[in-house]
Amino acid sequence: MSDTQLSNCPTHVAIIMDGNGRWAKKRGLPRVAGHKKGAESVRKVIKASAELGVKFLTLYSFSSENWKRPEDEVSALMGLLGRYLKSEIVELHSNNIRFRVIGDRERLPENIQRLISDSERMTEQNSGMTLILALSYGARAEIAEAARKIAKSAKLGLIQPDAIDEDVFAAHLSTAGIPDPDLVIRSSGEKRISNFLLWQLAYSEFYFTNTLWPNFDKKDLIEAFQEFNKRDRRYGAIASES
Ligand code: IPE
Ligand code: IPE
Ligand code: MG
Repeated sequence: MSDTQLSNCPTHVAIIMDGNGRWAKKRGLPRVAGHKKGAESVRKVIKASAELGVKFLTLYSFSSENWKRPEDEVSALMGLLGRYLKSEIVELHSNNIRFRVIGDRERLPENIQRLISDSERMTEQNSGMTLILALSYGARAEIAEAARKIAKSAKLGLIQPDAIDEDVFAAHLSTAGIPDPDLVIRSSGEKRISNFLLWQLAYSEFYFTNTLWPNFDKKDLIEAFQEFNKRDRRYGAIASES
């Protein structure tokens, strides 16, 4: 299947990259070997997404609940993340990719926080694809944080309670200014949201594949896009051909 046969590329693709541990277990390897292999899929999928014309790519990389994992797995993941940022950011920048992070970054190790802010600053003028990593991210925490910010503004008289509508609320989320995902992909066969972008996914299309994340590549991405192209997005209205 050639890339040119894609009639309509989703503008914003969000991926729940799941199945690293199971990939490793199947091979009798430690879970961290799955995470390492998964980092290769991340590289491939970023490149493929930019080539196919995706404008925003959000990758769920570490959830607020993933802090509950054993300390050695968490520190291995943070180590991988640090190495990934150091080795990839120049390449991302040279490909005109803008890098952003959503999530509770204050819980991340300080060196990672620095790498993130340096990377965001370095790439903020880039006009190609925006790559958003969801790190230490939880949608309920994000929604509660938005409510807290709005309440503070209301208390100061900067906003009237009656003026709080969906647009005002969305503007207080960490994804302010980013269009909602058109397509959400989850690898590994699990079919749940796991506290990912609860507000933003209201009308997204979902695509589930049994492929484990370390095996996920451009071919899987194209398959997801082809399936996306068959969907009729009605947004509560009636079918477009009716
Ligand atoms: C996804 O793979 C990566 C992270 C959540 C960090 P998992 O580590 O969840 O892999 P499984 O689900 O145990 O196979
Ligand atoms: C979701 O995967 C989070 C990421 C992919 C980063 P999990 O493996 O943490 O989700 P659950 O526990 O199966 O719901
Ligand atoms: Mg998992």
